[in-house]
Amino acid sequence: MKGIVFTEFFQLVETLFGTDMVDDIIDDCELETDGAYTAVGTYNHVELLHLVGALSKHSNIPVKDLVYKYGHHLFSRFSELMPHFFEEPQSAFEFLESVHDTIHVEVKKLYPEANLPSFKTTREDDKTLIMVYESQCPFADFAHGLMAGCIDFYKEDIEIDSEDQNTDEMYSRIFTLKKK
Ligand code: HEM
Repeated sequence: MKGIVFTEFFQLVETLFGTDMVDDIIDDCELETDGAYTAVGTYNHVELLHLVGALSKHSNIPVKDLVYKYGHHLFSRFSELMPHFFEEPQSAFEFLESVHDTIHVEVKKLYPEANLPSFKTTREDDKTLIMVYESQCPFADFAHGLMAGCIDFYKEDIEIDSEDQNTDEMYSRIFTLKKK
């Protein structure tokens, strides 16, 4: 997993809970990196799961909620850090449809070692977008948070329903986004 995902996570933890919390969760985890990440490095995604687990223990907030919150926050950071991805899409649905075929393709060109999920999108009707997440990593809650961040960014009123459809080989969740 790219270091930016770790560095942004530490920044959010510091903002929400303070610097001591960052030190506490690093101390709690046995990390190959000892908690030193650079934005362009590549690290084992399991370290992020350990850090979120430690944060959950210290904050008494469920892991699921923390990962979702982090995804939501990261979306607005992406809009600041990578504004070029925001030039074309005019709506949340258009943006989300561009993730798999445009954004993550660019990410993969920049960082060939990135481990990206797959998204299949279908417009069921003009109010409904189906988005199917598939990955080797268990980050569907993170995807959910990113989607919610996207909807808020475009100031739209869209409800997200989701259902897990994991298999032995793959983490998978089907998201149904409905405009109200
Ligand atoms: C400007 C927008 C975006 C950028 C620049 C971006 C970039 C990235 C990067 C750099 C990673 C880390 C890959 C790695 O470390 O190996 C990642 C992972 C991920 N991205 Fe995106 N992303 C964007 C939008 C989104 C959106 C809107 C979603 C959800 C619909 C999404 C879903 C995910 C998920 C779930 C992962 C974790 C890896 C996994 O589950 O397999 N991304 N993305």
